[in-house]
Amino acid sequence: MSCQRYSRLVLSGAAAMRTVTHQQVRRNCNNCNKRGLSLVSCARQQVAIKESPVSGAARSPALKGITPSATDLVASLPDQEGLNVKFGDGSASQMPYVWLRDNCQCSKCYNPVALGRSFLLEDLDVNVHATKVQESEDGVEIEWSDGHSSQFTAEWLYDRAFTTSARAQQRNRYALSREPWGVEHKPAEFDYQTLMEDEKVLLDWLLTMETKGSALVKNTPNRDVAGPDLINNIAFVKQSHYGPHSPVINRENTNNVAFTNVKLGMHNDLAQYEQMAGIIFIQCVMQHQGKGGESVISDGLLAAECLRRDHPEAFQVLTTTDAYFWDKGHANFPWEMESFFKISKRPIITLNNDNEVVCVAMNNGVRHSYLDLPSHKVKKFYAALKLFNDILYDNAIRFKMEAGDMMTLDNIRCLHGREGYEDFSPRHIESSYLDWDEALCRRRRLQEKLGLFV
Ligand SMILES: [Fe+2]
Ligand SMILES: [Zn+2]
Repeated sequence: MSCQRYSRLVLSGAAAMRTVTHQQVRRNCNNCNKRGLSLVSCARQQVAIKESPVSGAARSPALKGITPSATDLVASLPDQEGLNVKFGDGSASQMPYVWLRDNCQCSKCYNPVALGRSFLLEDLDVNVHATKVQESEDGVEIEWSDGHSSQFTAEWLYDRAFTTSARAQQRNRYALSREPWGVEHKPAEFDYQTLMEDEKVLLDWLLTMETKGSALVKNTPNRDVAGPDLINNIAFVKQSHYGPHSPVINRENTNNVAFTNVKLGMHNDLAQYEQMAGIIFIQCVMQHQGKGGESVISDGLLAAECLRRDHPEAFQVLTTTDAYFWDKGHANFPWEMESFFKISKRPIITLNNDNEVVCVAMNNGVRHSYLDLPSHKVKKFYAALKLFNDILYDNAIRFKMEAGDMMTLDNIRCLHGREGYEDFSPRHIESSYLDWDEALCRRRRLQEKLGLFV
């Protein structure tokens, strides 16, 4: 029998006790995680555990009186690839050796201050295996075939288990599920000053933006940097070549068709950037009086899913055909880049490896005339693009912002447009941007601070 075989083990404990411990840990301390567990292995390993100075009486208080059951032993089947771990709530997971070794938590392999891995891939043996596994006070100690040794707490292992629930929890920390919306949607409203002062409300706005991709901020101060001020209260402004904020007015010698009085079709801002702005803040400083200037917004996620369901061929075209977007010009204001020349390349609908829609890009003003396509594919591309545009409008909501309103949109998911208005209108909109990385960062930090991080 190989030494690997001796090292198979099961971590187990009383489910109820484990749950209580887990909750208490969550509430009380992030650094002192004591999860109720016991640890057994196959028969010969069990002997080693009983003789270990850290077993039995040295267990954490939560473990006293817990005796591994026969079921635990039955579950400890030899495995050449890793530890088979059973947790107190009945869940079980294989913990591959190569993964455990890669994630050794000792101070040589992992910097506990920087919270980052110091261990290098060049030092990782993908065939590494345990030569000895032993129970510790609150987890497990492993000696490795490469001569190193590691300790893992049960809490640490449980959070990273290769189980459906643990993996789902981490997906949620990464990003919340988005909720598609259509014509019935009424964007949630927030008060500007409350967002600036109340972190709970700010978290609510962040969660709303992540799930619904849209919200309306009311009572925005009448100054052109009110958007950047709010963004700086969250993280920091994403600048573009238009500077930290863009007056959307009817400009002379304009450097973008958005800065005119014409009707604008459904679009994202900055589609000409490879890294499109994550969230757009569209502040109404002064609205056009009379006909025109109305806003229209639509959920690109809903439209993309409708297209996928009802027109799979068009969906295929828009997810696999790259389009160019571009923007070339000179500054209209001192805070803009003196001259710029951007080109981006992306499909109209971008999918991730799970075939989920992660970005929708529409912007007639900056969609390039160059198409890197064989000519016989061009008409199909246009047909799919127009169909998608129709679906966006079929599911859009329309409203007219008033001075003090600020619409906030997930700019890689939701599209916006506006009706044209009279040439010499004093209408004044201001646009500014925040990257999703910073918004999600603030969401997680606020959840942690407010005790709401799951
Ligand atoms: Fe825009
Ligand atoms: Zn280590």
